[in-house]
Amino acid sequence: MSQYLLIKKVYDTKPVDQTVIVRGWVKSLRQSKKFSFLVLNDGTTQKDLQIIVDLALANYEEVTKLTIGSSVEVEGLVVASQGKQPVEMQARRVHIYCLNGEDYPLQKKETSLEYLREIAHLRSRTTTFSAVFRLRHVLAQATHEYFSNESFTYLHTPIITASDAEGAGEMFRISTLPLDKLPRTDKGAIDFKQDYFGRETFLSVSGQLEAETFAVGGLGRVYTFGPTFRSENSNTARHLSEFWMVEPEAAFNTLEDNALLATGYVKHLIQRAMEQCPDELEFLANRYAPENLKTLEHVLSSPFEVVTYTHAISILEEVSKTHKFDFPVKWGIDLQTEHERFLAEQYFKRPTIVTDYPKDIKAFYMKQNDDGRTVRAMDVLVPGVGELIGGSQREDNYERLVKRMEEMKMDVNNYWWYLDLRKYGSVPHAGFGLGFERAVMYISGMTNIRDVIPFPRTPKNAEF
Ligand code: 4AD
Ligand code: MG
Repeated sequence: MSQYLLIKKVYDTKPVDQTVIVRGWVKSLRQSKKFSFLVLNDGTTQKDLQIIVDLALANYEEVTKLTIGSSVEVEGLVVASQGKQPVEMQARRVHIYCLNGEDYPLQKKETSLEYLREIAHLRSRTTTFSAVFRLRHVLAQATHEYFSNESFTYLHTPIITASDAEGAGEMFRISTLPLDKLPRTDKGAIDFKQDYFGRETFLSVSGQLEAETFAVGGLGRVYTFGPTFRSENSNTARHLSEFWMVEPEAAFNTLEDNALLATGYVKHLIQRAMEQCPDELEFLANRYAPENLKTLEHVLSSPFEVVTYTHAISILEEVSKTHKFDFPVKWGIDLQTEHERFLAEQYFKRPTIVTDYPKDIKAFYMKQNDDGRTVRAMDVLVPGVGELIGGSQREDNYERLVKRMEEMKMDVNNYWWYLDLRKYGSVPHAGFGLGFERAVMYISGMTNIRDVIPFPRTPKNAEF
């Protein structure tokens, strides 16, 4: 019995003159007078395997009827090839698992990304999506590798939470209360004491606050990598209601250290992607973003730009004289995607770290600057995407933090445990969150976030 090999293994080991078994799905079938070319892929590599099926094969007639996406097992002899790939196969036996009928939605002609979103359960069968998801995998591995090498401990923070880590009120409620018979308090409010957890609970928007508790006084350096949920009503090519976030948190780090950590991490992702997914990146670049590889190489070899928010605003104000933005620029505004992209894509032409934002547009936990109006925040903006990372040095002073939370009308009692960190062994510390899908977009060159997550959740859409 011949050995079954994954197609990736066939290319890695090139077992020329050996008879092996491969299994996979048909990419194409071309017929000539004496034989047919069967092109097969099994998802383990970007490269297809070309198989020559001779007219003499017992079930040759059946093989010639194979359609795209049909599943087969082929036993055959591996031979050196003059073609694009170093080896190909001469079939000895072809077994058909399932022959797709004419109703198979993925025919040879190029299918639009929009249409593929409607059949997301089948789109991993396309060359585009298998490339994107192998790349996504490599970026996930590279994330663990980077933080592990930097002495961070991987921490699994909870998904169900009672606190709004961003204070932005964009949380999905978790409740088992009967919607048609909500229990009420004497005052007529919903009585959450009777709910499953005996209080209001939500899906987490960020693992940061819990990560901080482990970083300060505990493990020193931790990172989370998990799903986060936001009920913001943003139907854009960059927002998901469920997305994955990587959040490192490091005791004793300042904003400057934080920026260096973020730079090192993003570069490490690009480095590993280029080393481990060259075929995927080349395919995606050729089809969707021709300049992408050149851009990534450039990013690897140059430092990120660092500029304060105040400086960024003055640049944008100057530019506004000749360039029309949809959102007018003035100190105090939250930067819109058009501003972020302008800075990274057209002005600095590289990833740009904007620091020291106005406190009124940032979260309660950011360290306040002595000017009384800005905080030690940083956003990393990248060409094509805009905001890839948001982070800050944290307010480690108890009184200042409580005062800020009160100003922002937060329920301070609810955060008693978070405030304890500033009472016991408090130290300067900093962290950030990288939107993992945005990183996949940036490195793959894909322009819609729905195309880099298996099953996108967006407002009014939770199919599959
Ligand atoms: O800037 P954000 O809201 O920061 C935080 O959540 C902090 N707690 C992170 C931290 O300091 N530990 O989100 C961080 C990143 C953004 O820069 C963006 O890349 C991504 O998460 N992000 C989203 N990605 C997809 N869809 C959404 N709706 C996103 N919201 C944020
Ligand atoms: Mg942000």
